[in-house]
Amino acid sequence: AAKAREQRLSLTDVLAKAMGHYRDQLKRSDRAIAYLKKRGLTGTIAARFGLGYAPPGSHALASAYARYDDPQLVEAGLVIHKQETGEEERRYDRFRDRIMFPIRNPKGEVIGFGGRILDSGEPKYLNSPETPVFVKGRELYGLYEARQAMRERGHVLVTEGYMDVVALAQLGVPNAVATLGTACTADHIAKLMRFTDAVVFSFDGDTAGRRAASRALEAVLPHASDTRSFRFLFLPPEHDPDSFIRAEGREAFERCIAEAIPLSAQLMAVAAADCDLATPEGRSRMLAQARPLFEQLPDGLLQAQMLNELAQRGGLSVEVLAGHWQRPVPGKR
Ligand code: UTP
Ligand code: MN
Ligand code: MN
Ligand code: MN
Ligand code: MN
Repeated sequence: AAKAREQRLSLTDVLAKAMGHYRDQLKRSDRAIAYLKKRGLTGTIAARFGLGYAPPGSHALASAYARYDDPQLVEAGLVIHKQETGEEERRYDRFRDRIMFPIRNPKGEVIGFGGRILDSGEPKYLNSPETPVFVKGRELYGLYEARQAMRERGHVLVTEGYMDVVALAQLGVPNAVATLGTACTADHIAKLMRFTDAVVFSFDGDTAGRRAASRALEAVLPHASDTRSFRFLFLPPEHDPDSFIRAEGREAFERCIAEAIPLSAQLMAVAAADCDLATPEGRSRMLAQARPLFEQLPDGLLQAQMLNELAQRGGLSVEVLAGHWQRPVPGKR
């Protein structure tokens, strides 16, 4: 009977059980606790995000489930099952000796994990594989924990990392989420729009972060509207939101949020990259780079404003630019 009950668990129940196991293991590991302390995290914030620890053994999860060879453990991405030809089958824990960050859907169900190595090593973060309950391009870390705060504050911060979300929450910015080691997608934006109509992107100041910002621009363009707000915050190159707020404090971070540039300015900046706007060549190149971005904007006043702005910066009348791009001139038929 116990076995039958075990088999009726849903994948999210299986994963919730793993979260409980990892949390118990964290309490027992001085090394893992010391790591979280070194990162400046309190026990309260660790509990709020359900942080845990996967111990080093390759079958540590066996103590948490009735059957270690339950196919659901493999389906949930917790156990790796290798069947090598001519050899005996082998099962072992996917996450070993890692700090565990449970990923929850907006209902609060556990759908996957990110696991960080304690010291240096590769990969730094190991994530759950895609499973029936976990589709990476659609899920955001911290959405469940941030859902109330993003409604109250009227905007959400989109960051790159697990630690960014947790550190920001601890230091008084609880309305942050993170993409899961993937680019920000149009699906991510659609999901966020269920909670708020304003997004501030806060990626790392490094080159990867800047690349992430231009990809985020592409993801948001189709969602832009006259009532939504998308802004981009750029941190100094050596920082990510976690390191910045710890070094400079909450007020400095809030100032960065206030100064984040709007979508229109980010579109201009991406279009004008390596263009000398003082020359006709540079202005033409800027307009050529702007066109595919501009064309993703939905019809509306923002699009009309943008056409006007691009014409001005491009040194052309709006009539000439609209004619060239085969767009209606705003206000004329
Ligand atoms: P970062 O390298 O910026 O890591 O990757 P981080 O979040 O600042 O982590 P700490 O501060 O070193 O602990 C940003 C995000 O990219 C994904 C993770 O989601 C990470 O939080 N990533 C990074 C991976 O999935 N795997 C990796 O090996 C590295
Ligand atoms: Mn609003
Ligand atoms: Mn980075
Ligand atoms: Mn970091
Ligand atoms: Mn980072």
